[in-house]
Amino acid sequence: MRDPRTSIINQRLKPVHRIIAVSSGKGGVGKSLIATTLALTLAKKNCTVGLFDIDFTSPSTHIILGIKKLQPTEKKGIVPPTVHGVKYMSIVYYSKDQATPLRGADVSNALIELLSITKWSKLDFLILDMPPGIGDATLDLLRLIENIEFLIVTTPSKLAFETVRKLASLLKELKIPVLGIVENMKMNHSKTVQQQTRKLGLAYLGGIAYDSEIEKSIGNTNLLLNTSLAAEVQNITTKI
Ligand SMILES: Nc1ncnc2c1ncn2[C@@H]1O[C@H](COP(=O)(O)OP(=O)(O)OP(=O)(O)O)[C@@H](O)[C@H]1O
Ligand SMILES: [Mg+2]
Repeated sequence: MRDPRTSIINQRLKPVHRIIAVSSGKGGVGKSLIATTLALTLAKKNCTVGLFDIDFTSPSTHIILGIKKLQPTEKKGIVPPTVHGVKYMSIVYYSKDQATPLRGADVSNALIELLSITKWSKLDFLILDMPPGIGDATLDLLRLIENIEFLIVTTPSKLAFETVRKLASLLKELKIPVLGIVENMKMNHSKTVQQQTRKLGLAYLGGIAYDSEIEKSIGNTNLLLNTSLAAEVQNITTKI
């Protein structure tokens, strides 16, 4: 029998105009930092924005946002609270920042549960911070959400780009829209990723420089929005 919760998910997501999954084939490339900055930047541009941390085993957007004590309210569903202008949902409300060592089936179950109980208001954008790789969460979202779009993050390293190539090819096969590729932690002016991205038939949305000062802005959104990363993300918002 089909899980009855799956039919309610697209109903729950009806008030959301665009759903953008910030994803990569690789870990540690800057997905969480970019997803959070993207959400904050769009909110600053007067868009209505939600941010949903889908990385259930290692959530980090609450740390980037500097959230300490926050809880959603319940009103015929879970209503995500607003943080720095962004409606914010994460498993940390329930895991209380303890480890959540979930196996594959449990990841799917938690994802389906949170998607089916979360009550989003009318949103221009819902940004999803994805876990690394093409794992259960990615496969579940592809199966469950009708109008999902992907923004793919890579670093200049071949090791990252080769995994991104696989993700891009899977999405192409499944006819899922890809907004383009963002190259993060650039250390020089190499155009290799730009050229490789075009060869894949995808848009190169921008290159973000490695910034050794970025650590200071984690937990402080005012500082984060003044970084060179945020300036480039602002530029990217004009292309998506
Ligand atoms: N442009 C940058 N310059 C310097 N450091 C960066 C930059 N982008 C991200 N970082 C740092 O790299 C680390 C990984 O970033 P982040 O957690 O956003 O990556 P991720 O892709 O979400 O990782 P994971 O796959 O574990 O979820 C963090 O310490 C972050 O501060
Ligand atoms: Mg992350």
